[in-house]
Amino acid sequence: MAEPIRFPDIPVYAGWGAPVRLESELRDLEVVQGKVPEDLNGTLYRCGPDPQYPPMRGDSIFIDGEGIASMFRFDHGHVDFRTRYIRNERFTLQEKARRSLFGRYRNRYTDDASVAGKNRGTANTNAIWHGGKLLILKEDSLPWEVDPDTLETIREWDYDGAVKAVSMTAHPKLDLDTGELLTFSYQAKGDATTDVAFYVVDKHGKIAHELWFNAPWAPMVHDFAVTETHVVIPFFPFETDLGVIKGGGPFYQWHPERQTVVAVFPRRGRPDEVRWFRGPTTSAGHMMNATMEGSKLHLDLCLYQGNCFPFFPTPEGKETEPVPPFLSRMTFDLASNSDGYETKQLSPMPCEMPRTDDRYQGRAYRHGYMICFGPDRAGGSMLGHLDHASGKLKLWNPEEASGIQEPCFAPRRPDAPEGDGYLLVLVNRIKEMRNDLAVLDAQKIEAGPVALIRLPTRVRMTFHGMWVPAQALETGIYPVTAMHEAAARAGVHA
Ligand SMILES: [Fe+2]
Repeated sequence: MAEPIRFPDIPVYAGWGAPVRLESELRDLEVVQGKVPEDLNGTLYRCGPDPQYPPMRGDSIFIDGEGIASMFRFDHGHVDFRTRYIRNERFTLQEKARRSLFGRYRNRYTDDASVAGKNRGTANTNAIWHGGKLLILKEDSLPWEVDPDTLETIREWDYDGAVKAVSMTAHPKLDLDTGELLTFSYQAKGDATTDVAFYVVDKHGKIAHELWFNAPWAPMVHDFAVTETHVVIPFFPFETDLGVIKGGGPFYQWHPERQTVVAVFPRRGRPDEVRWFRGPTTSAGHMMNATMEGSKLHLDLCLYQGNCFPFFPTPEGKETEPVPPFLSRMTFDLASNSDGYETKQLSPMPCEMPRTDDRYQGRAYRHGYMICFGPDRAGGSMLGHLDHASGKLKLWNPEEASGIQEPCFAPRRPDAPEGDGYLLVLVNRIKEMRNDLAVLDAQKIEAGPVALIRLPTRVRMTFHGMWVPAQALETGIYPVTAMHEAAARAGVHA
């Protein structure tokens, strides 16, 4: 007799975390408030985990689960919606077996014997459009290419064999001026290796530069940041111990006695140009941006004075107490011989999932957007807009018993000033167990949405995503990149 498909009664699957497992398609979502701006044409792509089958071991963590991509296509006031699971090797093997075959988070030594050596990547973290391809990303494996119109899975993408790293970050950085994608891999030669690979991918999707170096331990690096000239990769005190994972233990362990170690190197740097900085024990999942000010490199990130992933225990098996993240600035002086750095807090409220106007990644910028939390996270979450020039934080609080997912910025026009455009935000209607998609004027979020688009279903938990203008999907190149190229040809600095 086959076992019934029944998810365990555990916190990670309770309430909003309950698996949805449904692929949806709806032409013309209902607009229940306001009007969708007619100048907003393009697609919001997002991705998150939605477990395909109950976990093999009866338990799971919220960042695990098979990836499902969502898209909202904006077409002159109309919005069409679609979701599709990523049909990668893991998904198709489990689909055939009608059960989970892959065990503990990232730990291949806990898998069913039938899937030994198979690709266990979940493709559950981010969606990015680059080089004419829509890529679905998770840092445990290489990207998966999906069709930008249908979300049907096409193939695993290793850049025509040019990428030798076994995985790629889910948080690459797009330089919209040059059209380059900057990306990296950690544990790049396999589980528990210290190898880090950094790649520059040109606007056509070809690898233009790579740099390999070694981290001080087998690290976890969820995100990094770039400036116009440099790359900054923080190594917080999480480590993979091969003996521990072979014994069925957690993939990462938190080492509270260790310092934070940060690598900084030029964008086209060589291994001997990697410079190391050290500071107090901290951690972070997500970076807002990095910028240069003279010889100083500023890294803005949601910083935790402790373990940002408390479900990764210490080597003694101790789970740590959650600590709040505050947007903070680490400053590294590249002209100094010191290996220290300074840190200052930028935002008064705890916040996560920081974003900017994507055109200003790596450049001097003024506007930051994030999910803000009150002192008690149970009170839901709000959209925040931090003006770095004035230090003021504006908020938009959806109704009671609601929360929001990561905001994405869409410029009004390719040449619109920084922050002139819209924020697209999935709102979790927790009582109703469904979502709305809110469209807000990015300069006036406190005024509430200019359009509220109703979903009859729930988009469980999309971690990240991006806005891709219609013009980019039509021409294969971002309009900002095209604009900069035209200006360069004309000898004008754009
Ligand atoms: Fe992330």
